[in-house]
Amino acid sequence: MALRLARGWTGRQGIIVTEAAYHGNTAAVTEVSPSSYKQGTPPDHVHILPISRMSEQADPAAWFAEQVRFGIEQLEARGHGCAALLVDSIFSSDGIYADPAGFLKPAVELLQARGGLFISDEVQPGFGRTGQGMWGFSRHGVTPDVVTMGKPMGNGFPMSGLAAREELLAVLNADVGYFNTFGGSPVAVAAGTAVLDVIAEEDLMANAERQGEYFKRQLQDIQARFEEVSDVRGAGLFLGLDLCDPTRDGAPDAQRTTALINDLKRNGVLIGGAGKSGSTLKIRPPLCIERSEADLFLDRFEQSLKATAK
Ligand SMILES: Cc1ncc(COP(=O)(O)O)c(C=O)c1O
Repeated sequence: MALRLARGWTGRQGIIVTEAAYHGNTAAVTEVSPSSYKQGTPPDHVHILPISRMSEQADPAAWFAEQVRFGIEQLEARGHGCAALLVDSIFSSDGIYADPAGFLKPAVELLQARGGLFISDEVQPGFGRTGQGMWGFSRHGVTPDVVTMGKPMGNGFPMSGLAAREELLAVLNADVGYFNTFGGSPVAVAAGTAVLDVIAEEDLMANAERQGEYFKRQLQDIQARFEEVSDVRGAGLFLGLDLCDPTRDGAPDAQRTTALINDLKRNGVLIGGAGKSGSTLKIRPPLCIERSEADLFLDRFEQSLKATAK
């Protein structure tokens, strides 16, 4: 829906996405999900932004804006024009790039000034997880044109949502209109409302911020003691931890990451990997996590680091 809105509104086809993004399963979103390409290259109307180079930049906001400007020009030169910049606002599959808060702002302003739409995919960072706002984009001080929402919206109940400016929806409505069989189901509405109630009643956003800060500090302490842990970053309860191989000049270590994930699984902790090279651990516990559960994770994580040492 977001892609259709952007293309209908702008009359352009090109989309800018990040290099290891994941946005879903349909034919349309697989085209803009480079992490799904096991082989082949993206279609001509998709421009890939090399977000993994951001950590080398002295001024990430200026660099990101320059990458978007370059992407717009590339798409224009190829005859597609740029309909939208589509990003997961914490860059989950790319390996988690949260800081500095606000780094998206110059790029989004440049894009919108050139008539492109900013689509914020909140499927992973949304619903309070970053601890600093209900949405990942809130930390960046930007106003998306379209927001897509998914899994945390129903806390396990399958549902999704899209929010957009009224005039964008009016264009779609005048063209093809929209309905679907399950849209607005009272069962989904009840699940979604319950999720919003629990986030407010249990003050889960504040918990995400508090426990997230604790997690980050403890992981940084582990980083200081284990040279194979090369970076810890993130916001709230959305943290990324990079693993490298110190014997190979600190090169990203995807093998070790997989070994660690499997060892943690044997010890009752389920965790996933992310990033272009597959060497980032994505640490994203439930928003209701308590200090004792964080400590349990940290303890098992350290054990697994030792057990998988080369
Ligand atoms: C960032 C992001 N966007 C979109 C999706 C797609 O959501 P769904 O699986 O509900 O289609 C996912 C699913 O993992 C996701 O992580």
